[in-house]
Amino acid sequence: MTDETRIAVPATAKAGTHCDLAGYEALYAQSMENPDGFWRDQIGRLDWVKTPTVMGNWSYDPVDIKWFEDGVLNASTQCLDRHLATRGDQTAIIWEADSPDAPSRTLTYRELHGEVCRMANVLKGMGVTKGDRVTIYMPMIPEAATAMLACARVGAVHSVVFGGFSPDAISGRIQDADCRFVITADAGARGGRPVPLKVNVDKALESCPGVTGVLVVRHDGKPVAMADGRDVWWHEARETVPAHCAPEPMGAEDPLFILYTSGSTGKPKGVLHTTGGYMLWANLTFHYVFDYREGEIHWCTADVGWVTGHSYIVYGPLSQGATTLMFEGIPNYPDVSRFWQVIEKHKVNIFYTAPTALRALMREGEAPVKKHDRSSLRLLGSVGEPINPEAWLWYWRTVGDEKLPIIDTWWQTETGGVLISSLPGAIDMKPGSATKPFFGVCPELVDAEGQFIEGPASGNLVLTRSWPGQMRTVYGDHERFVQTYFSTYKGMYFTGDGARRDEDGYWWITGRVDDVINVSGHRLGTAEIESALVAHPDVAEAAVVAVPHDIKGQGIYAYVTPNMGVEATEDMVKELKFCVREHISPIATPDFIHLTPALPKTRSGKIMRRILRKIAENDTSNLGDISTLADPSVVQALIEGRKNR
Ligand code: WT7
Repeated sequence: MTDETRIAVPATAKAGTHCDLAGYEALYAQSMENPDGFWRDQIGRLDWVKTPTVMGNWSYDPVDIKWFEDGVLNASTQCLDRHLATRGDQTAIIWEADSPDAPSRTLTYRELHGEVCRMANVLKGMGVTKGDRVTIYMPMIPEAATAMLACARVGAVHSVVFGGFSPDAISGRIQDADCRFVITADAGARGGRPVPLKVNVDKALESCPGVTGVLVVRHDGKPVAMADGRDVWWHEARETVPAHCAPEPMGAEDPLFILYTSGSTGKPKGVLHTTGGYMLWANLTFHYVFDYREGEIHWCTADVGWVTGHSYIVYGPLSQGATTLMFEGIPNYPDVSRFWQVIEKHKVNIFYTAPTALRALMREGEAPVKKHDRSSLRLLGSVGEPINPEAWLWYWRTVGDEKLPIIDTWWQTETGGVLISSLPGAIDMKPGSATKPFFGVCPELVDAEGQFIEGPASGNLVLTRSWPGQMRTVYGDHERFVQTYFSTYKGMYFTGDGARRDEDGYWWITGRVDDVINVSGHRLGTAEIESALVAHPDVAEAAVVAVPHDIKGQGIYAYVTPNMGVEATEDMVKELKFCVREHISPIATPDFIHLTPALPKTRSGKIMRRILRKIAENDTSNLGDISTLADPSVVQALIEGRKNR
């Protein structure tokens, strides 16, 4: 399998496409040469209360990013009100439960509009006003989307916290965003097991005295504790309010949501997206990248707790009047054909998932896929991490029968929506390449000094121009925004990813070049995991690195130094894993914990991660220069420790 393998746009993708190759080239050229004209042509995709007259108004040095700044709109209107006349009775959301035996649910646009208005009214009654931050901690049920849109309707800023996060992680995010309100559910279900959401919220709120109201959706139905004067049942409150609620007019640059994501240093950052630019980007990319056709059923398997769920379960599809499928379960419950069974059951047309799921399912062979009718499928998508050519080809052959286009979409929480991807009807595919930049996106490669690298080459991926969906700041810490993204290379946005551009100008994303680990498409910072480990009273020091992992893409390898006099035992390893689960989430649990009396450090005390990575990968043939180490014998001891596992 060479990089040169090129798969032409399939005939099925050409028929009825919104954009062929000539169209892509013309629009891309316009977006580069005349960005103002390009965006003026696109703003009509949204319903504005006041149409903006200014398009992009941004600078990367000093950092100040604005798009459509004099425009006024409401995000929920784009997703609901404007569809009522034309598609009020069309299904907006299909919900599929964790268990195939439970009935599925559907909501039409009219029903969803009513639910959102009611929840908006309930939120107002609880005291939520424009600009308030509201934490949403929900299972994958339609009420999660209702909650996001209800916040948008009243002008509140939602902060969705993934339902797999621990009470500690929830309270940290509530405190950082200074939230006074939480929307949650009694419990969720995943793979046949309950997820105790309300219990987790109650624990989290022990350290969040500022929270005055909790709206609780009944889903699981089992009893939960309800705090008097603070907790409100949604099913009761919704009966007391009207199904109409005027949308709050929002400035294009008013915040729409905060979403916490891990970086290479410190605690997770509150990535802030604003209303106009984000909505246009979600809508435009959904239209072109998924090449969405009227009446189609779109299924993005992500959780709404991640940006993928925000943009391609909720805001992109609903703003386009699509039917979006929400699935509460997991790919291998009750068995490994669950995805394909759901596709058959709901006649899914667009399927968007993560490489880690494909790699896990690939191991199970063809039979679980082939036994289901997949003839409804038109498009396959991948997101979250680099897709290896083997997994790509399995997707292409086994799932798509060599007929369906595959879009490998590269983007980030920070970018709001897709930045590099093929357009299905326009761009030939190469297995493992995200292919070409979307309209308005200008990727470049730079070397360590920030010099541009031309032609086919590898380097660090930067973006030299702003696009409307770009994050605007880190909530409450603009300096951190500037430092994190614009200080490595002045005047450019640094993605944190490495990439290669080939002879055809195709982009191949090679993965993070900073201290961020991508475990099954979940982004984790080494610093965050280290701080969870050192929270254990017997730990002196910890250093975490990534190791290649067959299914997860990357695994977590943690070196931990116990305090003097503490014995390194298997029990301690267990306790440390537990500690990470409690502080962050089970997804952050280290695959390996290597207890060691010392870590390799320079004489100035800096931990040499390069060496730790090599040892973790069992690649000790070329450790490079270790003469700068304060105590070179530490390395030999670590290699011995690695051999013994
Ligand atoms: C990081 C962003 C995009 C939404 C979900 C993840 C990696 C993402 C791809 C892809 C190679 C990818 C990058 C990026 N990544 N998509 N198609 N090919 N790498 O969002 O949690 O903010 O993570 O995920 O390393 O920087 P996120």
